[in-house]
Amino acid sequence: MRRKIIAGNWKMNNTLPEAKSLVEDILNGVAGNPNIEKRELLDIILAPPYPYLSLCKELIGKHPGIYTSAQNCYSEEKGAYTGEVSAAMIYSLGAKYVIIGHSERRNYFRENSALLMKKVDLALKNNLKPIFCIGELIGERKAERHFKVVRQQLAEAIFLLKEVDFRRIIIAYEPVWAIGTGLTATPEQAQEMHSFIRQLIGVKYGRKTINNISILYGGSCNAQNAATLFAMPDVDGGLIGGASLKASDFISMIETLSKINK
Ligand code: PGA
Repeated sequence: MRRKIIAGNWKMNNTLPEAKSLVEDILNGVAGNPNIEKRELLDIILAPPYPYLSLCKELIGKHPGIYTSAQNCYSEEKGAYTGEVSAAMIYSLGAKYVIIGHSERRNYFRENSALLMKKVDLALKNNLKPIFCIGELIGERKAERHFKVVRQQLAEAIFLLKEVDFRRIIIAYEPVWAIGTGLTATPEQAQEMHSFIRQLIGVKYGRKTINNISILYGGSCNAQNAATLFAMPDVDGGLIGGASLKASDFISMIETLSKINK
């Protein structure tokens, strides 16, 4: 059964007091909303910057179905890598997920598929579930290469995993031209790519696995456009950047997703 998932990727935003009040507002919004409270098969993930992972986890406490995620991890187990953070450290802070392969990491930090696979392997080894991001650049879409690019991003990375490990992955399709730009993929564009990804999973891992993998959409998804995107048959939720920084918007998107039955 595919789980519905909504993840807030805060990126490099918020000071400690701001982070604390954002989490508190989100938790109050969840607790005060009967639609969200009685949700089934819907996980809420908060991905704050590293320094706030502990605090978030502590504030979440026993709220059911709400988890923390790191936005990245390092590609080595441990050692003399000043400034880096390992998958084991993240797990020890109570996080359950880690975002790997976000386009900002691929672009600004030149992270390629080989490096990303090292991170995925370390994440899995340390009991973290990777939220693995893929997506094409605007030029690639204009040149109608978007399917080819996404197929390659999968083939070079998570499709190298054994089936048991692959089943622990969450995929986020994030067309790079839609991230932080206010340009959203249309629901049809998102559906077309999500269904393509699912077909590839079917070919590689078989039917049973198709129905276990959640595929999230990301890229200027917000409280206004979430309903039409989330309603698409192969969209299982969202990886939300900008709109996850405002508790009321994030809550509204969680509520939207909780009402969708597929
Ligand atoms: P955005 O970011 O919602 O601000 O476009 C999404 C993401 O980068 O995960």
